Amino acid sequence: MDHERFRQIGHQLIDWVADYMENGHDGPVVPDALPGDVLRRIAAHAPQEAEPPDQVIEDFKTLIVPNLAHWNDPRYMGYFPCNHSGPGILGELLSAGLNVNAMSWATSPAATELEIAMMRWLGEMIGLAWPGTIQDTASTGTFCAMLAAREQVAPINREGYYGRPPLVAYVSDQAHSSGIKAARMAGIGDAYLRAVPSDAQQAMNVQELARLIKEDRLAGRVPFFVMATVGTTSTTAIDPVPEIAGLCRREDLYLHVDAALAGTAAILPEMRWIMNGVTEADSFLFNPHKWMFTNFDCCAYFCKDPMKLKHALAIQPEYLKTQHDASVENFRDWSPQLGRRFRALKLWFVMRMFGVHGLQEKVRSHLKLAKWLSAQIAAHPRLHLWREPTLNTVCLHLGNRAETEAFMLRLNDTGKVFLTHTIVQGTYLIRISLGQTHQTAEHVHQLWQLMNEQLT
Ligand SMILES: Cc1ncc(COP(=O)(O)O)c(C=O)c1O
Repeated sequence: MDHERFRQIGHQLIDWVADYMENGHDGPVVPDALPGDVLRRIAAHAPQEAEPPDQVIEDFKTLIVPNLAHWNDPRYMGYFPCNHSGPGILGELLSAGLNVNAMSWATSPAATELEIAMMRWLGEMIGLAWPGTIQDTASTGTFCAMLAAREQVAPINREGYYGRPPLVAYVSDQAHSSGIKAARMAGIGDAYLRAVPSDAQQAMNVQELARLIKEDRLAGRVPFFVMATVGTTSTTAIDPVPEIAGLCRREDLYLHVDAALAGTAAILPEMRWIMNGVTEADSFLFNPHKWMFTNFDCCAYFCKDPMKLKHALAIQPEYLKTQHDASVENFRDWSPQLGRRFRALKLWFVMRMFGVHGLQEKVRSHLKLAKWLSAQIAAHPRLHLWREPTLNTVCLHLGNRAETEAFMLRLNDTGKVFLTHTIVQGTYLIRISLGQTHQTAEHVHQLWQLMNEQLT
């Protein structure tokens, strides 16, 4: 493709994206595709000769787009938001255009230094004066935290696990599965990852945590890591971080706080309380790619003492050495991979083009919509509100699993909304997760109307 053709197609595609953002997509929010539907329509082999770009773009529109879940449609309320924005897309576009590899300071000084500055901005916005880096996802961030904690108690990188007493990690029974995956990847093993029971609010029970730690110590095992969650995936429950931090301090355990979704809410002064106790932890993360209008992927990972992380992850082969290494940050030493995308650029665009007030206004509007919707549900004779929502997620049920599940499927079958479920304390719940960039009261009112129609 020559540069002139690239320019023409690029303009067309920006128009396509702008239309998509403005008008959405004609079909259902989530496709009713069956497994294999798309695969069987894709050529079995790569073309030997170049195909006309117009044909490729036509296939994108007719084959790919209708078979996607439209995550940024304001009617998409499943799982959690994964929202984008004009500034986020433009930042990504430029990052793709530059295609730099920010593995070391020397391989792109501006990428590294912008990342340092963006983490400072974000930290200030949520009240955390720690250094940090951008990881791809929360799953990677939690894995890094576990590796940092592990190397503090045992030199596993050098010696492996051979002949050591088992290391034990603790998460709540409501924690995200990335805690389990981290324990597997870090070689801890499912048998030594404790799922601490949660209380009636789905928050970690600290007495149970203390009991399990004691039990493990008495059995000769080595507790080393606790993960608290601020905003659980199922119901956005908040673990009692100050109490957990106190216990970790007394027990000399590493504390990581996963606020993948909820962390964005801390940019609101009235929600800053969700950060209580976090400064007593060792690491903290949240995903601007979930609720801060920053294109996927972007996880803000903060750590009190980066040396712990670097102790676990830094490697310096000869071919990566540069004359500035002693005086700069090489972010490859803060994450598992060497090659790193230039993610700070989209964050810079988002924070500057929205402004802190613009970001706050949007997040606040989502919280208000969640309150409005929960009030309607609470007042409805057939619907049961699970708990008053603290954040963006409203959970409800109809009294029994069969009816609740059928209701959700009916709603999703209309193609006008997409919701997902969870099971908490044996109750099947429909989750309504708000937070799309262009979601307004109108979309939530339409959902409420649809819910009423589908109930009758
Ligand atoms: C609380 C929590 N932690 C971690 C994750 C994992 O996020 P990521 O997809 O960025 O790894 C999620 C996403 O669902 C989450 O809700």
